Amino acid sequence: MRNLFLLFLVCGHALAQVPLPLPPFMPQNASLGAIPSTGGVPNPQWSSLLGNLLFFYEAQRSGKLPSTNRVKWRNSSALSDGQDVKLDLTGGYYDAGDYIKCTFPLSAAVMSICWGATDFGKGYDLANQTPYLDDMLRWSLDWLVKAHPSNDTLFVQIADTNLTNAYWGGDQNIPEPRASYQINNTSPGTDAAAGAAAAFAACSNLYANRVFSSSYSGPATLQNSTYAAALLEHAQQLYNFATSARKVVYQQSVPEAGVAYPSSGYGDELAIAALFLSWAQNSTSLYQQAQTYYSQYNLSDYQGVFNWDSKTPGLPILFAQIAQANPSFGNITNWRTEAESYLDGIVYGGGEGYSTRGGLLYYPSDSEDASLNPALNAAMLLNRYLPLASTEKRKQDYYNYAKGQVDYALGKNPMSMPYVVGANPNSPQNPHSAMASGGNNISDINNSPPQEAYVLYGAVVGGPDKYDRFFDIRADWPETEPAIDYNAPMLTLAAMHVLNDTSDPFYTSLQAGAYQKPAGMPCDAAYTDGCGGPQLSKGGQIAMGVVIGFAGVVIFSLVGWWGWLSWRGDYDPCY
Ligand SMILES: *[C@@H]1O[C@H](CO)[C@@H](O)[C@H](O)[C@H]1NC(C)=O
Ligand SMILES: *[C@@H]1O[C@H](CO)[C@@H](O)[C@H](O)[C@H]1NC(C)=O
Ligand SMILES: *[C@@H]1O[C@H](CO)[C@@H](O)[C@H](O)[C@H]1NC(C)=O
Ligand SMILES: *[C@@H]1O[C@H](CO)[C@@H](O)[C@H](O)[C@H]1NC(C)=O
Ligand SMILES: *[C@@H]1O[C@H](CO)[C@@H](O)[C@H](O)[C@H]1NC(C)=O
Ligand SMILES: *[C@@H]1O[C@H](CO)[C@@H](O)[C@H](O)[C@H]1NC(C)=O
Ligand SMILES: *[C@@H]1O[C@H](CO)[C@@H](O)[C@H](O)[C@H]1NC(C)=O
Ligand SMILES: *[C@@H]1O[C@H](CO)[C@@H](O)[C@H](O)[C@H]1NC(C)=O
Ligand SMILES: *[C@@H]1O[C@H](CO)[C@@H](O)[C@H](O)[C@H]1NC(C)=O
Ligand SMILES: *[C@@H]1O[C@H](CO)[C@@H](O)[C@H](O)[C@H]1NC(C)=O
Ligand SMILES: *[C@@H]1O[C@H](CO)[C@@H](O)[C@H](O)[C@H]1NC(C)=O
Repeated sequence: MRNLFLLFLVCGHALAQVPLPLPPFMPQNASLGAIPSTGGVPNPQWSSLLGNLLFFYEAQRSGKLPSTNRVKWRNSSALSDGQDVKLDLTGGYYDAGDYIKCTFPLSAAVMSICWGATDFGKGYDLANQTPYLDDMLRWSLDWLVKAHPSNDTLFVQIADTNLTNAYWGGDQNIPEPRASYQINNTSPGTDAAAGAAAAFAACSNLYANRVFSSSYSGPATLQNSTYAAALLEHAQQLYNFATSARKVVYQQSVPEAGVAYPSSGYGDELAIAALFLSWAQNSTSLYQQAQTYYSQYNLSDYQGVFNWDSKTPGLPILFAQIAQANPSFGNITNWRTEAESYLDGIVYGGGEGYSTRGGLLYYPSDSEDASLNPALNAAMLLNRYLPLASTEKRKQDYYNYAKGQVDYALGKNPMSMPYVVGANPNSPQNPHSAMASGGNNISDINNSPPQEAYVLYGAVVGGPDKYDRFFDIRADWPETEPAIDYNAPMLTLAAMHVLNDTSDPFYTSLQAGAYQKPAGMPCDAAYTDGCGGPQLSKGGQIAMGVVIGFAGVVIFSLVGWWGWLSWRGDYDPCY
């Protein structure tokens, strides 16, 4: 019965999408990323980058892989997900370097990608990547549909974080059982429900061709009104669930979900869900409701990051986009002021971020792991806002600032390293990915095997530290781990560069050997070897078992140590 059901789903999936090209797009050998292209639009190197960024998601797939799977070293996996609750919860994506599936950050990534593909979607078309975009989105959304089996039930995590973190190995021996964690009417989660509603609504807009204005390139060509309508229904139900149930952050109902991705609040998710829905339903009252949330939850004057947890900086921009497209909803003027107050703070200073010496936008505490994520999200927001900017000077400055962050991420940095795996010979060789590493000895992650078994093409890694140093060490998850939400802003940025950037991504100017390992060792949540100065350096070895945690001197057992490494605190620990 279950198998038949699965077969049906897989076949349905394969038939429903924009036809995949034959032969399929495959990432090129990284050495070709050091050869400048002849330029033009679409620039073949930007197109190739966009393709690789999507390819990464295919490597992260969970469940039964279709015959069209391009990642030959991946296998079908976690085929019992949902059995504990008598549902089929197979599919979806592993969130980062290991094997848990997390709805809250997945929803944020999917919302971001659909929003980007609405504004800059013709970039996917030009690069011939729209079929893969459709495939990626459906692999996400079809799973979110399964995770939402009734109006007031949403599964927010699959698999126990600690259990999964204690496992380092391939996709064939993932520890079971994998528990399914839900929110419902008695144990609600406003943020998770509204976050999923926002993803469904944003993607419904994309699939229905509901564009904001002609200032943007227009959506990727994957329209399907049946699918758009189905997505909208889930969005409405989840929004009703979020607003009618008791209001609470989801980790209060599901403490397990707070280990990896604790939410800091739900006002931003309520507002962004209401906004995407207002556009989907052409509803002035939902737009006004979003305005009410914006003031009720005091979302003005926020100067922090945009990420899987915090959608606040995106709100004034979306308010403005909708007001520009339909002035009867609201007056764009105040939203312009709100948006520019935030974006000016980034570009001209005054926000919470500052520039590292090498030029990376860096937020104290938030950037301490996955430093590229806040910077790339800021670049994405700047570019989206550009057409609405109040002055020509801002248009120019915002564009240049965003370009600077993208250039930095793609190799114009003190390490001469493009932080996308497989893009160039200087790209990271050791992403913290259990499945790509080929290793299965958790006590010897760095050296077993000496070379990562598979190239995780297209993965944006966490990024350098505040001194612009990057240690390409597999166990150093704050710097080397990939995640589905890290790739999201880079996808939108790459799609935008495909549209009109004739010059190559920066890395084609970097020849093999440009990256030199920095002296010493890292000092971060995974490694303390570098904290006491160079004399403590272990020359690439890590002292296993004994780690001085930031809370004091604590000696962990091996598995406990790993649990600690894997616990990403207030940031993004789910992997
Ligand atoms: C539109 O999407 C629906 C739902 O996934 C699918 O059944 C249908 O085949 C799609 N139509 C086209 C023309 O792709
Ligand atoms: C990429 O090309 C280089 C140089 O031709 C070769 O040494 C290397 O094995 C290739 N890598 C992969 C993953 O095919
Ligand atoms: C998981 O590990 C964390 C940190 O070690 C601990 O606080 C928590 O209780 C553990 N959760 C479960 C379900 O074992
Ligand atoms: C997939 O299965 C093959 C064959 O058993 C194995 O060699 C490979 O390592 C597996 N892939 C992963 C990611 O574990
Ligand atoms: C509702 O969710 C809570 C928290 O996840 C769970 O303990 C409870 O069993 C769920 N209720 C039902 C009826 O499934
Ligand atoms: C490139 O395209 C983007 C998106 O359409 C647009 O905002 C930007 O102004 C364009 N830049 C140039 C130099 O044409
Ligand atoms: C589920 O939600 C939809 C739309 O909000 C509503 O029409 C339907 O009656 C609800 N179903 C149940 C069983 O409550
Ligand atoms: C949205 O609603 C307004 C009336 O409130 C109407 O004039 C307009 O045509 C509608 N737009 C769409 C796209 O349906
Ligand atoms: C509202 O937010 C601002 C900036 O984020 C903060 O300074 C202020 O204290 C907050 N006010 C309330 C009432 O929470
Ligand atoms: C929008 O608001 C601004 C400033 O509050 C005001 O000057 C302008 O007249 C308003 N526009 C409309 C169409 O109401
Ligand atoms: C795993 O690595 C540790 C540390 O290098 C080593 O002592 C142990 O023998 C390895 N285990 C296996 C099964 O190879």
